[in-house]
Amino acid sequence: MERLPQQPSVFVCQHHSCLLAGSAAVLAAFGEEVAGYKVVGCECLGQCSTSPTVRVTPEEIWYYRVQPEDVPLIIEQHLKGGTPVEAKMNPRIHLRFHYGG
Ligand code: FES
Repeated sequence: MERLPQQPSVFVCQHHSCLLAGSAAVLAAFGEEVAGYKVVGCECLGQCSTSPTVRVTPEEIWYYRVQPEDVPLIIEQHLKGGTPVEAKMNPRIHLRFHYGG
């Protein structure tokens, strides 16, 4: 069976922890569609301790502790420019290794 291509999407969690941390304003800041990405309010994404959580597909970039003031940079640099915003990438999902020296 052929798989349908996945529409690029921005999922903004609208569940309890994220809502308490301001995710309704984050969802509003993204709008309904931006740069070809459909913006979707969604249920818990399982990253409640670092809320608000934003997941971008199909590239599977997960942002954490997103506030409305972070949204313009995510839109410009990532959604329009193709380069994820490193400082807001969830370190529990996007592992980084630092070597001393
Ligand atoms: S409530 Fe948003 S990740 Fe769980």
